[in-house]
Amino acid sequence: MRPHVILNAGVTADGKIATRTGDSAISSKEDLERVHRIRESVDAIMVGIGTVLLDDPRLSIHKIDSHAENPIRVVADSRARIPLSARMFNEKGTTIIAVSAKADKERVRKIEKRAEVYVCGAEKVDLKCLMRKLYRRGVQTLLLEGGGNLNYSMLRSGLVDEVRFAIAPRLVGGRDAVSLVEGEGFPTVAEGVELELLKHYSLGRDLILEYRVVRKGD
Ligand SMILES: NC(=O)c1ccc[n+]([C@@H]2O[C@H](COP(=O)([O-])OP(=O)(O)OC[C@H]3O[C@@H](n4cnc5c(N)ncnc54)[C@H](OP(=O)(O)O)[C@@H]3O)[C@@H](O)[C@H]2O)c1
Repeated sequence: MRPHVILNAGVTADGKIATRTGDSAISSKEDLERVHRIRESVDAIMVGIGTVLLDDPRLSIHKIDSHAENPIRVVADSRARIPLSARMFNEKGTTIIAVSAKADKERVRKIEKRAEVYVCGAEKVDLKCLMRKLYRRGVQTLLLEGGGNLNYSMLRSGLVDEVRFAIAPRLVGGRDAVSLVEGEGFPTVAEGVELELLKHYSLGRDLILEYRVVRKGD
């Protein structure tokens, strides 16, 4: 058993979630509020270490008035690279850092003073193992908030159930700009993850699309 996973992102009209310089300020105020409403409704939020190193996100509910407790924060961080000064460690609630057997033991001990550490996998974080452990911890719903490489691995492993994104009316281009889904990619369109559109609506200047995953990766 594993959590129900919703992948959400703010993307440009050309499918990027950040520019080549790492600027990811794509979401409008209305969209940020939408995302924080989703955070309010899930048990956990997850990002990759790439996003933490670039954006230092708080991963808490702070853009809306809410009495809800912060969801559990989860970071996929094989080598335990998260800075001990990361802003999320100052937020209320639980943080889980998922590492692999490759992580430096001394570094892990330091992180354990600020967060729970789960060891999953030999090289990269084994995401199926992580999802099982989170489910056993009581996480029934999880919001996956990127970045592109973690999104790909989660999709490829068949661990995503819903995809939602806000398309902002911007084009940024850039071969080194991060796309919604990165990684190696699927070799053919037919092998790609198949989605079914459930809902679409305008939110301020953005277009919100909500899909169900019909056929998963592996
Ligand atoms: N617009 C948006 O909504 C939005 C949302 C989130 C992020 N972003 C942007 O996305 C960019 C970061 O994306 P990114 O793709 O570079 O980084 P990422 O997906 O956040 O993190 C990737 C890293 O996660 C670690 N990881 C651990 N286990 C993994 C696994 N099984 N599969 C894949 N990764 C695993 C790897 O590092 P180790 O090998 O060291 O563990 C990997 O390099 C930033 O510019 C950020 O601003 C935008």
